[in-house]
Amino acid sequence: MSADDPRLVPLLPKQLDQAQRRLYDAVLASPRGQGRARRMVLRDDETLTGPFDAWLRTPVVGEHLERVGMALRTDTVLPAAAREIAVLVVARAWSADFEWWVHGIVARAEGVPEAAIETIGQGRRPAFDDPAWQAAHDVAAELVQRRSLARNTLEGAREALGERALVEVVTQVGFYQLVSGILESFQPPGPSADLPVVGPPSATDAAGIDLYEAASTTRAVRRLRPDPIPEDVLQRVLRAASWAPSGGNLQPWHVIAVRDPARKQALAELYRELWSDYAAQRRNLIAPLPEALREPAERTLRAGDHLATHLGEAPVINAFCFHPERLHITDAGLGRPSVVGGASLYPAVQNLLLACRAEGLGCVLTTLLCERETEVRKILEIPEPWATCAFVPIGWPVGTGHGPLSRRPVEQVAFADRFGDALFSSESEDSP
Ligand SMILES: Cc1cc2nc3c(=O)[nH]c(=O)nc-3n(C[C@H](O)[C@H](O)[C@H](O)COP(=O)(O)O)c2cc1C
Repeated sequence: MSADDPRLVPLLPKQLDQAQRRLYDAVLASPRGQGRARRMVLRDDETLTGPFDAWLRTPVVGEHLERVGMALRTDTVLPAAAREIAVLVVARAWSADFEWWVHGIVARAEGVPEAAIETIGQGRRPAFDDPAWQAAHDVAAELVQRRSLARNTLEGAREALGERALVEVVTQVGFYQLVSGILESFQPPGPSADLPVVGPPSATDAAGIDLYEAASTTRAVRRLRPDPIPEDVLQRVLRAASWAPSGGNLQPWHVIAVRDPARKQALAELYRELWSDYAAQRRNLIAPLPEALREPAERTLRAGDHLATHLGEAPVINAFCFHPERLHITDAGLGRPSVVGGASLYPAVQNLLLACRAEGLGCVLTTLLCERETEVRKILEIPEPWATCAFVPIGWPVGTGHGPLSRRPVEQVAFADRFGDALFSSESEDSP
């Protein structure tokens, strides 16, 4: 909105009636009107910025709202940093530049690290050491994304914040959504001249990650939080999948992003049965192994058990389907298991995994559900002859998520010119 053509012409002090003047004075008398902060609410021509000029139109309501805003700042037990984190989440969700800018300043002053502010700006979930900050973030993110609060998010936040601060953070989110609605509706001109208005970074500004770092840390992450994934993040990771190569460039696949709780639950129930058989077999196999080998395998199985009991809570399960007649399967007649068809499908899955890694999302490639394709077909209404080839649950990780891999080194897998001759010598193991 240009200052020359505002949606609401800002009211000058001399135009105000008594009730309006009361609100005007109250804004400037409050802490937000003091010292350097005053420049954020008062323009050079002495008109008010932010939602306050709009509220002058309904001054009694505006006065109450101004007091609520102040009470949320001064009469709450919610830690100031946690409060500002919640406001930034709202500002980001609404792309509310003014709010983002003002509360970015306050958040920094309250000790919120720059990297965390950037992460919020990218619609991603920062990891905070302080459980109260994390809870404030997670409650705000879930409320703005889902317009509801899952029971386990609520209980986690109650534990981290206490009941009073939990109610305060929810109220805070509601209040700043109201403020965002005023700012988006009336788009008041920003503060005077020298104050830049810097909005949250747009989706395309999402921080990149070095390709090698991503590839060397994209491991199976099976402990996922139920927090929703912002629409733009989901779009980015699925777009990365769509860039994958395929034979003849036919792209013989689709992906179904399953978010519907009932369908996720139905998939999860099937998966649990399959996993329980698979895990029992694996545990039998590893039982005789020495402790040093058994323990890592058992750790993976425990993570698998967790996924099997919580799959339905992952915010998105990506079900990859393919059209068997659109694959050019060059190894179909060789009398051994054919794999070439998959080469037109799994690059897309890997692109998705790498993109999730770049976004900080946990993910794991799973195929057990393919065994129960008939039932999956019914749950997801997949028409014949489309079939299933992978299921990738994704979500913000519970712990650290991705990390170092355990793989055979390149010295053992890469040959020179003929099968069996190592391409690289073992001494080069530490080379970049
Ligand atoms: C083709 C394929 C199928 C897989 N299926 C499953 C699965 O159904 N369930 C699961 O928990 N993990 C599954 N995984 C994940 C592997 O178990 C995991 O990638 C492997 O153990 C290596 O662990 P890391 O990625 O954590 O290093 C699958 C991986 C691949 C490549």
